[in-house]
Amino acid sequence: MAQFADSHDKPVRILGIESSCDETAAAVVEDGRRVLSSIVASQYSTHGKYEGVVPELASREHVRNIVPVVRQAIEQAGMVYTDLDAIAVTVGPGLAGALLVGLTYAKSLALALEKPLIAVNHLEGHIHAVLLEERLGGRPEPEFPALSLVVSGGHTLLALTELRPKLRPKLRDDSQQNRWRVPVFSNRIIGRTRDDAAGEAFDKVAKLLGYGYPGGPVIDHIAPHGNPEAVEFTKPKMKGNALDFSFSGIKTAVLRYVQSHDLEAEIIARRAWRMQNPKAGKEELLAHSSQRTLDLAASFRAAVVEDLVEHCRDAAEREGVNSIFVTGGVAANALLRERMSKGAGSGLPVYFPRLGLSTDNAAMIAAAALPKFLASQFAGFDVSADASLALGDSEAGK
Ligand code: KG4
Ligand code: ZN
Repeated sequence: MAQFADSHDKPVRILGIESSCDETAAAVVEDGRRVLSSIVASQYSTHGKYEGVVPELASREHVRNIVPVVRQAIEQAGMVYTDLDAIAVTVGPGLAGALLVGLTYAKSLALALEKPLIAVNHLEGHIHAVLLEERLGGRPEPEFPALSLVVSGGHTLLALTELRPKLRPKLRDDSQQNRWRVPVFSNRIIGRTRDDAAGEAFDKVAKLLGYGYPGGPVIDHIAPHGNPEAVEFTKPKMKGNALDFSFSGIKTAVLRYVQSHDLEAEIIARRAWRMQNPKAGKEELLAHSSQRTLDLAASFRAAVVEDLVEHCRDAAEREGVNSIFVTGGVAANALLRERMSKGAGSGLPVYFPRLGLSTDNAAMIAAAALPKFLASQFAGFDVSADASLALGDSEAGK
């Protein structure tokens, strides 16, 4: 693989491929800081009628979409396949069958093009999305150590993101040295959910209220029309690690509220209407919601967001970090952005990727691959998908 390591004085263009859940995505990122293309094919219409992701259907959709999505990413970048320097792909965590589609296609491409293959951890990708956002804006790198809150449909965790010595590959041209001061960091998990992920809680509550899938964006859109103080939820008491999360209790509390306030008839009617109108906009959703339901949605969103904010504040204080990263699908939540923008009361700078980089995308996978490319950390063709890959398992030097 040594032939790949001496080409660093030219722009490095990495193709990222992401297929861990219900989005087939491909992107080309140059030098870890310029997104030449980013294509995301969502499977909402496939899973909508089941009110959640059906793994078998997700794999089939990835098989259908992977070739055109990658082709579109290459075309949009104004390139041909042979211009690529490496192929990066998500190897986990995620749905096993879904991951295997992206991985198998990435291997085929790498083999056919004789380009290196780079294995990327999806959660590490979400953290890199924060750095990519800052680079896209031409801003300086955030200060480490950082506290990373990764909140998605499958994960909710707090990690301490610490800088490791900066990587400086040997370059033919010394004047290029500065270009490759790529921060290499490691992640140590300091808190995680013991049951549902925050995004999963949004999805389950939206489903039980008859709003369908995906639930997070719907609850976020209607919540500003309800009273966030109308329904009080008891905070989960965490035995052991106080930085762990639990979201299954609040989901059950919402169900109990529905049962004790006779909301079932409204929910059945809404569910039937949603099945026929999966693309309904905010005004239509509001027209099909009683004030009591809007109050419940608003109170639920506020309680989950407050829990996330409090965890960040406590963790930042305990660990003495210099910045806070918030990333993953739930980082798209408007209230979370608003509440965290003030540093969660910690006075620290808080970094979010833009909405399209917060939810699943392949630009973050290509960006996360750059330090591995510069370190010639390539995957063998025997690499497999790991549905339960943990954050930190696949980092440089491990
Ligand atoms: O990171 P992501 O795109 O996929 C996973 O890695 O899981 O996250 C998807 C999750 C879903 O649960 C979705 O409901 C949630 O992120 N989500 C939101 C919002 N947008 C997406 N949750 C709350 N508010 C939002 N605006
Ligand atoms: Zn994700």
